[in-house]
Amino acid sequence: MHRIQATIKLSALQHNLAVARTRAPQSRIVAMIKANAYGHGLVPAARALGDADVFGVTDINEAETLSKAGLNKPVLILQGLIDKADILRVVHGNYQLVVHRPEDLVWLEETLDSISVKTPLTLWLKLDSGMGRLGLTAGEFAMLHAALKRKSWVGEIIALTHLANAGMPDNALNRQQLDCFSSLMQQEELAGPSQSIVASAGLFTLQNNSAWARPGLMLYGSSPFSWHDESRRSHSLGLKAAMKLEARLISIREHSTGDSIGYNSWFICPEPMRIGIVSAGYADGYPAMTPNGCPVMIAGKRTTSVGRVSMDMMAIDLTDLPQAEIGMPVELWGNNISVDEVACHTGTISYELLSAVAERVPRIHV
Ligand SMILES: Cc1ncc(COP(=O)(O)O)c(C=O)c1O
Repeated sequence: MHRIQATIKLSALQHNLAVARTRAPQSRIVAMIKANAYGHGLVPAARALGDADVFGVTDINEAETLSKAGLNKPVLILQGLIDKADILRVVHGNYQLVVHRPEDLVWLEETLDSISVKTPLTLWLKLDSGMGRLGLTAGEFAMLHAALKRKSWVGEIIALTHLANAGMPDNALNRQQLDCFSSLMQQEELAGPSQSIVASAGLFTLQNNSAWARPGLMLYGSSPFSWHDESRRSHSLGLKAAMKLEARLISIREHSTGDSIGYNSWFICPEPMRIGIVSAGYADGYPAMTPNGCPVMIAGKRTTSVGRVSMDMMAIDLTDLPQAEIGMPVELWGNNISVDEVACHTGTISYELLSAVAERVPRIHV
């Protein structure tokens, strides 16, 4: 490591994928590697997750990046069509596509009815069962399903819905969404399509017998549940942290009572203190608004952040750590400091911390 580094353990990704499989032994797995594999590096993560059945990405560009890297596993484009011109690229790459609005049918018909498509497309029809984000109403779903299943350019149709509150297992919306989806699936004219409901959280809390599961976060070793739910922290779920984010200790200074540390005097030393400066800041993806007291680890011991995080630096308390020396690595998250704990302390979610690790941070895949 020079200044800062994210070390990505590929064996942890493989371990976590195996955990996902044990949670849904009858399901095939869409490994969600969108957003640069939640910050872990799209192509290396895809190579490590070769045991998945399909890769899930955000858009056609991520799909094509995988193809260009020589990965030829099926790829599902979660946001579907951003632009009508995406359709020919989808056909050319033989990608699978989420269809989530009636307009998609019009675009697809206008483009594909008049040409011959060698390999019919696999389409994932998305129902909005209560998430209130992307998806068709039940009426639109039935209409699009009827229209699409007659098209020569359509191969398999898979029915998909996404749960808004699966990370809150007792929330009533979970049951409402499941009921909404299953009542639609019971309609006679809709018999047939295989189904996909759960992502990481649902894999741990629901009966999983759908044909397809779509885990993302858990593959990276993070828990989709609240840090306050101790029984569902990542190690209790059997997951291993894939990313270790570390940076160097670049300065150590002794301070007196009343000294101010960092911008806007967010921290005033209440007693004489030894303060270390770590070369990691918000331009590396560490949250600027991190409150005092966020855990870090140095020399095998936990300590905490003090003061506001700067662009490229942050301060930590070394008062009780005489063994800390300039040049030592400081773990910001990884095996010892859970990214889930940092997310809880900083008022965000681990999804954001992991996927926001900046491009300038070297990712070393081991
Ligand atoms: C439709 C869909 N499926 C699956 C996932 C993966 O969710 P998670 O990372 O919680 O497993 C996402 C994540 O945003 C999603 O939008």
